[in-house]
Amino acid sequence: MKILMVCLGNICRSPLAEGILLAKLKNHFPDLLIDSAGTIGMHAGQEPDVRSIAIAAAHDLDISKQLSRIFIAADFKEFDYIFAMDQANKRDILMLASSKEEQNKVHLFLEFAGFKDGSEVPDPYYGGKKEFEEVFQLLDKASTLAAKKLLQKI
Ligand code: 4NP
Repeated sequence: MKILMVCLGNICRSPLAEGILLAKLKNHFPDLLIDSAGTIGMHAGQEPDVRSIAIAAAHDLDISKQLSRIFIAADFKEFDYIFAMDQANKRDILMLASSKEEQNKVHLFLEFAGFKDGSEVPDPYYGGKKEFEEVFQLLDKASTLAAKKLLQKI
């Protein structure tokens, strides 16, 4: 099972999503790979935002070893599921798809988890600790639901 979490910069939301979902699934899938990427390469090579690292650490999760990278078309071949944090991310990912099969791998993460259609993980980049905590809680809830759904597919 290979899963890719995608946001804009791959420094705030998708590194958290990667860490949270990994913690929930790692004991269940022997061949599990969870990675994350951004639709822009502006932060490529950087560690997650210090605020994401801090909010993860406050919940006993270490995401500090992750490094930002840009989403590439080859990711469609590598991953089974590509989860976008918001609609703009989803649109940007789909622009690189070259088949229906590739398009079908792309989901809004919150929609996949069962939230209402069109639900997005808000970008906390211009926010503060409160916004990062809210994003953490949202991703944690969604990851619990998504993990349940993925486990039913084994
Ligand atoms: P992310 O947040 O997409 O959750 O990683 C952002 C990171 C960087 C920027 C915007 C959002 N930026 O404009 O550099």
